[in-house]
Amino acid sequence: METFKGLWTSENGDGTYVTSLSNIPMDVLNSEQVLVQVFYSSLNYKDALSSSGHRGITRNFPHIPGIDAAGIVINDPAGKFKPGSQVIITGFDLGMNAHGGLSEYVSVPSTWIIKLPSGLTLEKSMQIGTAGLTAGMAMLALLQNGMVPSEGPIVVSGATGGLGMCSILLLKHLGFEVIAITGKKDLHGFLKSIGVDEIIDREEFLEEKMKALYSMRFSGAIDTVGGDTLIKILKSLKAGGSVAACGMASSVDLHLQIYPFILRGARLLGIYSADSPLELKQKVWNKFSKEWNFKMNQIVKTISLEEAPEIMQDMLAGKTSGRYLVKTIL
Ligand SMILES: NC(=O)c1ccc[n+]([C@@H]2O[C@H](COP(=O)([O-])OP(=O)(O)OC[C@H]3O[C@@H](n4cnc5c(N)ncnc54)[C@H](OP(=O)(O)O)[C@@H]3O)[C@@H](O)[C@H]2O)c1
Repeated sequence: METFKGLWTSENGDGTYVTSLSNIPMDVLNSEQVLVQVFYSSLNYKDALSSSGHRGITRNFPHIPGIDAAGIVINDPAGKFKPGSQVIITGFDLGMNAHGGLSEYVSVPSTWIIKLPSGLTLEKSMQIGTAGLTAGMAMLALLQNGMVPSEGPIVVSGATGGLGMCSILLLKHLGFEVIAITGKKDLHGFLKSIGVDEIIDREEFLEEKMKALYSMRFSGAIDTVGGDTLIKILKSLKAGGSVAACGMASSVDLHLQIYPFILRGARLLGIYSADSPLELKQKVWNKFSKEWNFKMNQIVKTISLEEAPEIMQDMLAGKTSGRYLVKTIL
């Protein structure tokens, strides 16, 4: 039987899961969908969860993880995409309950596919990936809510993560002052080297006793962490400030009094990139291909499919930093 190479997550039988590079039968793909040869994918926190058997992300195993893919169309039975078209697929159910992009091939509905905008390469699109796309959507939400560099600093939490670092590069590209909250003391120098103006240690940020409000410090925020960090950011916003809430790396809980909203006009902007309408995704990709087209090499490590399972384990243990571009062509 014809096979292709990809990461394959399967259950061991004792409740544990293993993810390894495998030969996967071609017939796991859906022949009624668009067949794409994947050239690049990337690693996101969700991939690490899926490849560890997290049933909230992926219900059925065995499974190919990978919420991001960029490659060329091999065949579209409905004829919407010509063979050879360069395309990007992020989110929707890719890598969650549909086989994902950490493999040589994916099959997806045509409604999930973005044509690669001119000005971007397949490689660059996956340096950006879901993390960058989400940072872009957060940025768009902040801009739509009146954020301008002259209003003061924007704080980014989970600063050394993929989403955090993409947010920092984008904010600096647009001329904002950036404050980073991080738990990684050893990466303070690196954060400074990519333009961060001030660094707050995660523990120090959280050690102060919880108050109803704190002194006004941030004009806006991109939060990837949730929980107490998000609460303290909301309570430290300047009047009329906005937080783009993107993640839950520390907690899904949000126990909060209403004061930041009714006494300072704080705005809490929810960001969810995966199921966003294709038009919004296209708008953000177009921006990355033009006015937001900046170099990302300093925050990206390029790895092979074979290296990805170990790095996803490290990601769950909070030991990774920046973006991981995965070359899927062996
Ligand atoms: N809303 C959306 O559409 C969307 C899209 C993509 C990702 N996300 C979410 O955004 C979050 C970040 O994703 P990512 O891909 O950037 O993940 P990542 O690369 O693993 O980065 C997460 C970062 O969060 C910080 N962190 C980890 N554990 C923490 C803890 N217990 N308490 C506080 N901070 C902690 C760490 O940064 P420091 O050490 O620097 O603090 C870590 O590098 C995840 O929750 C992910 O699910 C949401």
